[in-house]
Amino acid sequence: MAGMTTLGEFIVQQQHAFPHATGELSSLISAIRLAAKIVNREINRAGLSPDIIGAAGIENVQGEAQQKLDVFANDKFKAALSARGEVCGIASEEEDEFVIFDDERSKNAKYVVLMDPLDGSSNIDVNVSVGTIFSIFRRVTPAGTPVTAADFLQPGHNQVAAGYVIYGSSTMLVYTTGNGVNGFTYDPTLGVFALSHPNLKMPETGNIYSINEGNYIKFPNGVKKYIKYCQERDDQTNRPYTSRYIGSLVSDFHRNLLKGGIYIYPTTESAPRGKLRLLYECNPIAFIAEQAGGIASDGGRRIMDIEPTELHQREPFFVGSPEMIHKAEEFMREYA
Ligand code: AHG
Ligand code: MN
Ligand code: MN
Ligand code: MN
Repeated sequence: MAGMTTLGEFIVQQQHAFPHATGELSSLISAIRLAAKIVNREINRAGLSPDIIGAAGIENVQGEAQQKLDVFANDKFKAALSARGEVCGIASEEEDEFVIFDDERSKNAKYVVLMDPLDGSSNIDVNVSVGTIFSIFRRVTPAGTPVTAADFLQPGHNQVAAGYVIYGSSTMLVYTTGNGVNGFTYDPTLGVFALSHPNLKMPETGNIYSINEGNYIKFPNGVKKYIKYCQERDDQTNRPYTSRYIGSLVSDFHRNLLKGGIYIYPTTESAPRGKLRLLYECNPIAFIAEQAGGIASDGGRRIMDIEPTELHQREPFFVGSPEMIHKAEEFMREYA
């Protein structure tokens, strides 16, 4: 087809354009592409499949009821990542501890992957968009030795690549290796991801704010005041803003990336460190946001500079268009 660049071709082009882009990383991204296709196939027919809809009957390490699709997506991504031998270990929302890949090839691999295999679990049964989020680091301990916690507990600014898949009205894979952000739309008739959104840039500002306002009463003062600011009339800044909240970080972020907007999951009285997980939700989304000209912070500090201490650590998360984040942070400082 004239003018179509598939993800496979794009990966090869990138390898030529950036000599440090290794073949191993390309192969790793191809593994993610394959798992995304398999998960996409199941999600598309979820309503027809009792094996996919509903709760799995167990809880994950953070006390959330795992959905069948959480478990399915975790298994598929884990299998795809271990099969290629480019990854020496993974960490996942659905795994209590990190997983060591110790076959001959994987043991010598230099990358680790951290992932949220299925983001927006509560949306599965009601046919609303969900996603997958991934974050890739070079390990810090020597190749050939079993991977350790230190390989996973790295600050986000060390990420080599990050991305997400959104299983939406169409399925897209959006990722960065630190040279901008590119988006690929899945063509199910051809079975390929085609470059549809090259060099994505987030608008400087927007008029969408995304936050679970049901928690309003439990928010810090700065967030409450910022929400009121979003709702006030002001022609110059195009307020009042529009409120949009899907309840899947990937989907809420993706919309704001394209249209301009702000997403906030702050601390609450009942979740004193917020809800979102630093290593496989905040960091990868932050890397994409920054590569697209946006900002990601915890309301004051840059997300990617936080030194993690735990695999499933949570952090408050503010991400979106730079002007909007600056404004929200101003409120956080003023009403601390
Ligand atoms: P997950 O489905 O991977 O556990 O993530 C759910 C997260 C995130 O996707 C979403 O933005 C947020 O939880 C929604 O939380 P609330 O229902 O508390 O708003
Ligand atoms: Mn979950
Ligand atoms: Mn999630
Ligand atoms: Mn999840």
